[in-house]
Amino acid sequence: MLKIDISAIEKSKIDAIIPEIKSAHEKLTKKTGAGNDFLGWVDLPVNYDKAEFARVKAAAAAIQKQSQVLLVIGIGGSYLGSRAVIEALKGSFYNLKKKNTPDVLFVGNNLSASYVEDIISLIDGRDFSINVISKSGTTTEPAVAFRVFKQLIEERYGKEEAKKRIFATTDKARGALKKLCDQEGYETFVIPDDVGGRYSVYTPVGLLPIAVAGIDIDAMLAGAGEMREICSLPDIKNPAWQYVAARNILYREGKTTEVLATYDPDYVFLAEWFKQLYGESEGKENKGIFPAAISLTADLHSMGQYMQEGKRCLMETVLLIGEPTGAVTVPNDPDNADGLNFLSGKSFFEIEKQACRGTYLAHTDGGVPNLLLTMEKKDERCLGGLLYFFEFACGLSGYTLGVNPFDQPGVEAYKKNMFALLGKPGFEEEGKKLEARLK
Ligand code: PA5
Repeated sequence: MLKIDISAIEKSKIDAIIPEIKSAHEKLTKKTGAGNDFLGWVDLPVNYDKAEFARVKAAAAAIQKQSQVLLVIGIGGSYLGSRAVIEALKGSFYNLKKKNTPDVLFVGNNLSASYVEDIISLIDGRDFSINVISKSGTTTEPAVAFRVFKQLIEERYGKEEAKKRIFATTDKARGALKKLCDQEGYETFVIPDDVGGRYSVYTPVGLLPIAVAGIDIDAMLAGAGEMREICSLPDIKNPAWQYVAARNILYREGKTTEVLATYDPDYVFLAEWFKQLYGESEGKENKGIFPAAISLTADLHSMGQYMQEGKRCLMETVLLIGEPTGAVTVPNDPDNADGLNFLSGKSFFEIEKQACRGTYLAHTDGGVPNLLLTMEKKDERCLGGLLYFFEFACGLSGYTLGVNPFDQPGVEAYKKNMFALLGKPGFEEEGKKLEARLK
């Protein structure tokens, strides 16, 4: 299903780090490490609530029937997984394509007024449903967006009909959203206590929007289950061990930024999901590999210069997924004005393949070690497996680095300041101090 090539790293170095990975693996699988109350995701592909899963499918079918658009309101781990999967499997033009499933629009992941206005105009005259997602139920961005769209859906359909069009995914007992769901009687899905936001793609957080887009969530879970078996192997043959060994060896040698390179715009949000997963899991205690991403070949014309000759703090993980699906070829031009007739009849894929091979050699020669991840196919099973691979490797890597990969204390700092500056009751004094600093 997944092949990994870490030949950029000397075997002796891999051998030397194995004991650390072994110990991290034990912490993860025996649930003895920091944050071990957030390890529910490890067994999620096999150990999930089957009744809830059936409800997810039924809700997806109801949304498909009643709506032309699903608005997914959430931020961070409460939206990136589903967006990554939908765009990877259905294409980044999914919403513009002719299809028999609803558009899926994501909102509540920023505070841009014009973005919200655009979404409002996109649902004008179109039937829509809402899936509001927040584990804590208190996150500002989705909460304020939900106020806007709750009002809009109630105005459009009336309060009773609106209730049938609002689906909430949140904690089973806590938070303002859960309270509102109980009050209003929305259909509610649960994010298990022991699964953190960025590890929640296999819960209803990811599965409901993904199913609405017509993606086979059984196959995704089956793929994740297969990868769970592969990742459970306590041996360097395990691809997660190899990946974690390579990236931690390189990190210790000064390669402090990992650039995930993908070769299709459909994978831009997969890379965003990866960045969130690794950034929030590892970036703490003044440590951590900085996760970055490039989308190729586009970024060879923007970040390519830096990749080739900038500060040598980079490692690159090239992610290749399956065989190409498009059959477009380059037409012949009798004038050969651009001198490119040597490409006539070649498929874009052939050209891309050589761009990829050439880039690999160029970056490696330029001092950027390349790791290579190859997924067999672009389908539900393989993507399900890939996401699990990245999650497992992330937990393993966090423990190898010596941090708790399952908390995110750092994200509170901006929230505290924002609330103080917005005059939240109880934050008045802090607000005055911050205003004085910002004068
Ligand atoms: O991974 C995480 O825990 C975070 O990125 C959260 O998903 C994000 O902050 C959104 O939180 P919530 O679902 O509580 O609104």
